[in-house]
Amino acid sequence: MTQPVNVTVTGAAGQIGYALLFRIASGQLLGPDTPVKLRLLEIPQGVKAAEGTAMELDDCAFDLLAGIDIFDDPTAGFEGANVALLVGARPRGPGMERGDLLEANGGIFGPQGKALNAGAADDIRVLVVGNPANTNALIAQANAPDIPAERFTAMTRLDHNRALSQLAAKTGAAVSDIRNLTIWGNHSATQYPDIFHAQIGGRPATEVVDDQAWLEDTFIPTVAKRGAAIIEARGASSAASAANAAIDHVHDWVNGTPAGSWTSAAIPSDGSYGVPEGLISSFPVTSAGGAWEIVQGLDVNEFSRARIDASVAELTEERDAVKGLGLI
Ligand code: NAD
Ligand code: LMR
Repeated sequence: MTQPVNVTVTGAAGQIGYALLFRIASGQLLGPDTPVKLRLLEIPQGVKAAEGTAMELDDCAFDLLAGIDIFDDPTAGFEGANVALLVGARPRGPGMERGDLLEANGGIFGPQGKALNAGAADDIRVLVVGNPANTNALIAQANAPDIPAERFTAMTRLDHNRALSQLAAKTGAAVSDIRNLTIWGNHSATQYPDIFHAQIGGRPATEVVDDQAWLEDTFIPTVAKRGAAIIEARGASSAASAANAAIDHVHDWVNGTPAGSWTSAAIPSDGSYGVPEGLISSFPVTSAGGAWEIVQGLDVNEFSRARIDASVAELTEERDAVKGLGLI
């Protein structure tokens, strides 16, 4: 029998947590042959609700669920973790400035980075979902000097999936016929969903769409502002689709991406495509052997360059702000 993999989920009692945990326990994160032990990390006020979720997980009698533990202390919660999904974060409150938000999250992701550094397993892989995800990942990474930097990633797979779905709806293609879309930059409204290398049924997407106005005025803003549109419609931020994207991200990281296509993930830049080294920025990526790799050699046209640069500039500002606050 394969040894169970320890998966720590922070914010386990929140709405994404509720959509995520059952799918992890059913084998959708790591595959149908890998048992999992869930480690739910919450703040003390969230522990009772996490206990309720754990009762429901028990009641599903999942074959692959080898145990559930609940913690309100990060050091204990990350002990032995192989996969860490950092979902819990401080939402922006009334009157809170961007700097206040970054500082409040520094108070969460700094200690969590330290706790990961102290006790996580050697093969730890971290996905940050809690916003501002890219910069929270940077804070956690900076506080975990003994963990290889590339093990810290942030989620732009939801943006990628949103872009796939919008492009499929516009062209009448099946989602499965679309390849090689890219989300560049920050998981924020400055992100750039790029179809210039995408193919639909083997044809260049730009040729199939052939509608620059739709690209500029509909597709890009719809994808980039979809999170806000969901909040407006639901009265709460996306949860099941965010959980789904987290499953996709970790599944592909661990099991590899299909041959001949790439996906999008925010990973530490190695300087590719002019993105300053060390920024955790979204790129076109493939995964093999359990490691992400940035797809190299793509031509970046002027239209794309300006948009990538704008999102990267925002990431640079966020990095400078958390540096200024002493968080990294
Ligand atoms: P939620 O408010 O329903 O749940 C958050 C949970 O985190 C709460 O149960 C809270 O008690 C817990 N928490 C807070 N601080 C914690 C800490 N220090 N340690 C452990 N747990 C802690 O929120 P949600 O809807 O589940 O969303 C969570 C985060 O994900 C938000 O920051 C949201 O903006 C973000 N998000 C990101 C994406 C993305 O694509 N990257 C998409 C959707 C939502
Ligand atoms: C999303 O993209 O749905 C979320 O990141 C939005 C948010 O601000 O929580």
